[in-house]
Amino acid sequence: MESSKTAAIKAVARQIVPTEFPPISKEHPVPGEPSLGTWYTPEEVEALLEVMASSMDWRVGFHPQPEVGEFEKEFAAFTGSNYAFACTSGGTALDMAMMALDLEPGDEVISPAATYPGTHTSIIGQGGKLVLAELDPVTYNLSPEDVERRITKNTRAILVVHDHGLSAPIDELEEVAKRHPHPKHGPAKVIGDAARACGAGYKGTKVGKKGWMTLFSFHTQKLLVTLGEGGMVTTDDSEAFDRIRALGNWGSEKYWGTNYRISKLQAAVGLVQIKHLAEKVEKRRANAWKLLDLLAKRVPEIVLPTEPEGYYHAWYLMTCMVPKEFAGEKRNALLKWMPENTGVGLVVGNQPTYRYPGRILHHMGFSDADFPVTADIGDRMFAPPMHGLLTDADLEHIADSLRAGMDYIAKL
Ligand SMILES: Cc1ncc(COP(=O)(O)O)c(C=O)c1O
Repeated sequence: MESSKTAAIKAVARQIVPTEFPPISKEHPVPGEPSLGTWYTPEEVEALLEVMASSMDWRVGFHPQPEVGEFEKEFAAFTGSNYAFACTSGGTALDMAMMALDLEPGDEVISPAATYPGTHTSIIGQGGKLVLAELDPVTYNLSPEDVERRITKNTRAILVVHDHGLSAPIDELEEVAKRHPHPKHGPAKVIGDAARACGAGYKGTKVGKKGWMTLFSFHTQKLLVTLGEGGMVTTDDSEAFDRIRALGNWGSEKYWGTNYRISKLQAAVGLVQIKHLAEKVEKRRANAWKLLDLLAKRVPEIVLPTEPEGYYHAWYLMTCMVPKEFAGEKRNALLKWMPENTGVGLVVGNQPTYRYPGRILHHMGFSDADFPVTADIGDRMFAPPMHGLLTDADLEHIADSLRAGMDYIAKL
């Protein structure tokens, strides 16, 4: 028999989680990058309340944290990795990976010129020399060809982003690294920033398996969320894992460390989220194909993203491009007009990182002249909303709104 406490928890959970959402409109707008990347169900709320209820004894509190270890185990199993360490954010995961490299003055780390600026901040934070490289104009991920042009004998790592929900070409990057080994440390380590690609796949593996190490974010906009913040590091390298665990959990006999642990509340929610991740990504993919089809028919002049063979796209961002003649000002006018007139927000995810004012990257001497391909993508890209809970009516509204927006900027 269900206890009265369990029954009460279930009743509260059902009340807290809405089951219906108003259709997208000017009155009910949606941002290009939804503020909650996935969604919660009563199951997460139940898990949360159960942990709360079992932590109220002052002699025990939140101390035993089996949920954290279980979440790491389930996450490692999902990605097919040997090891996983749960941490407070994608930012701390990035910092730990960079710390584990023990960078020395002059050591270089290559990263895509346009992505989330925090990825680059982690390199600078550990004293690495940030070397930017071009994006591939079809996948918008790091171009292995351009990495090969920019790699040197000082390159220690390639910090690549699995951007927009699409895996980066890890095998190709590892091949490039092998052809140009560092004289002391060997081939550059390929590290994947999978903050935007939880649940994506590549050549029959899940993102998180390939490469030396992979970093995830569970921030509220991401594909797996743990109450606003959270992150994970996965690796198959036992030595690297010892280092990461020490860094995030007060060190070991060998290594310095501090505290980057997540709470058991977050882990309990993460355990529910990881159980349903695959089916949620499938819902997202179903909506992505529907929207791609609508856009191809109604807005044929825009460049649509693709899923290359051997890749399993999680469609975190459905990044499109306006035609070349609409680059820059007209694209920017579209970004402004759409939410104001249709309630459909668009996001640019992301500009070349050196373009962002108010950040250290703005003053490091990088300029568009060195990255013509990436600069062009940065001037033309935009992403309409994508989410597993978009209805057919929402998808129709997004496509029609984009048609209207393109007609508007064509006349400017
Ligand atoms: C590509 C990428 N890397 C890293 C991060 C940082 O993750 P967090 O916000 O969890 O620190 C984000 C987004 O937040 C991101 O999009």
